[in-house]
Amino acid sequence: MSRQPKWLDNAVFYEIYPQSFNDTNADGIGDIPGIIEKLDYIRELGCNAIWMNPCFDSPFGDAGYDVADYYKVAPRYGTNEDLKRLFDEVHKRGMHILLDLVPGHTSVEHPWFKESMKAGRNAYTDRYVWTDNVWEEPEGFGSLRGISERDGSCVVNFFSNQPALNYGFYKPEKSWQQPMDSPGAVGTREALKDIMRFWLGMGCDGFRVDMAGSLVKQDEDSKGTILLWQNIREFLDAEFPDAAMVSEWGEPDKSLQGGFHMDFLLHFGPSHYNDLFRCEKPFFAGEGDVSAFVGKYIENYEKSEHKGLICIPSGNHDMDRLARTIHGDKQKIAFAFLMSMPGAPFIYYGDEIGMRYVEGLTSVEGGYSRTGSRTPMQWDRSTNAGFSTASKELLYIPQDESADRPTAQAQMADPDSLRSEVKKLIAVRQAHKALQSCGEIDFLYAEKNAYPLAYVRSMEEEKIMVILNPSDKEASFSCGLTPTETVYSIGGEITAEAGEITIPANSAGYYRI
Ligand code: NOJ
Repeated sequence: MSRQPKWLDNAVFYEIYPQSFNDTNADGIGDIPGIIEKLDYIRELGCNAIWMNPCFDSPFGDAGYDVADYYKVAPRYGTNEDLKRLFDEVHKRGMHILLDLVPGHTSVEHPWFKESMKAGRNAYTDRYVWTDNVWEEPEGFGSLRGISERDGSCVVNFFSNQPALNYGFYKPEKSWQQPMDSPGAVGTREALKDIMRFWLGMGCDGFRVDMAGSLVKQDEDSKGTILLWQNIREFLDAEFPDAAMVSEWGEPDKSLQGGFHMDFLLHFGPSHYNDLFRCEKPFFAGEGDVSAFVGKYIENYEKSEHKGLICIPSGNHDMDRLARTIHGDKQKIAFAFLMSMPGAPFIYYGDEIGMRYVEGLTSVEGGYSRTGSRTPMQWDRSTNAGFSTASKELLYIPQDESADRPTAQAQMADPDSLRSEVKKLIAVRQAHKALQSCGEIDFLYAEKNAYPLAYVRSMEEEKIMVILNPSDKEASFSCGLTPTETVYSIGGEITAEAGEITIPANSAGYYRI
């Protein structure tokens, strides 16, 4: 892995879903000037980095993960100049911003795909993965068939309107499966570099990469995809050595080999991330099991050579809102966990105020069950909770209509609110190197179906013990370490006696040892 940009050591990210953040032109959809208007809000919370979901021209069949022009900001969000201004305003505040790079597929409306559908050979014939004839469906993949004059079926990557770009097959078996070093596959890879070059050159600080682990097809243990990213890493090292790369991959041992600086734990895959916040009995709801998560975490941590580069998000635009399963003050304890783990934490917009999952919404922009987690941000008590001055019917997704819906404004004024606690926790993290991205972690107590969860974070001389008890019962564990000073606590103080530490119900604390 290449040198990690220094700013990642202390980064706390805020994920902005641009269509739902802040609308300044009253069309019912968020926009880039709206994001600029709210940068001080994000900075005031303590976040110093942003991941913004795709903002490029798109038919929005999958919320912008179906790109029609990688070089152009979607007009509904503004212009390329607005995006450049966003980069500048972010940097003025000492913050950084990652764009969302979607390398695996485009929209069916992308001009590359339109060219690729033509019967005659052209420069884009091999840009996507096509079979030789329309009657052959690609085994193991979804496909688009019968929509082109070209005689073939096109592999799709996600929804059926997202044709897969061709980075080659690790071990091609059929005539239509091209090797990774074929001109078509190399052409796609170079086109991807050009896109990255364009936005990095304009001032973005790096990328969150969509479905980063699935580019090379029929891959053996991700070997081909790792090689592909290593090639891209070489390009970045030569031209943009400070660019930060975060992968949606979920297998840190592989993504880090590919040259990514950080990888996410995800709601799918083997991480047991869902055991924490989103399952029938989540640990942070007070009656769950954290042991499998910790077991898997340690495995990944060892494989990533203790680099602490595994990011744990509070949620994202693909998962249920945290507040759907974790209620009241238990959300504060969940954040005490998120803000004390290695790797940069990611806060999904609105999670800091406990925005709710809105039940029963009709799918918008390919959201389906995800739509309820994508509702417009609730800023204050004005029209549409301050998100937009458009009439309510025009909002592209309806808002939480509950009378007691949380708002940023009310929570900022209340020292006991979730937002105030999150702000405090971020400040504590940023004041202690041991709690940041690269501090070591050693688990002290993470037993099956038991509470609390306890671990030590350390960096050089600093050692901080973290104890979390989101259950409704007092909990104890034996421990040879003696907590000295309290760095942070909520819900009550621990007692330490004869090698046993006891922590009250619904409480959490960080203690110097
Ligand atoms: C992962 C993204 O987070 C999700 O929103 C999208 O639908 C798929 N990748 C396809 O790009």
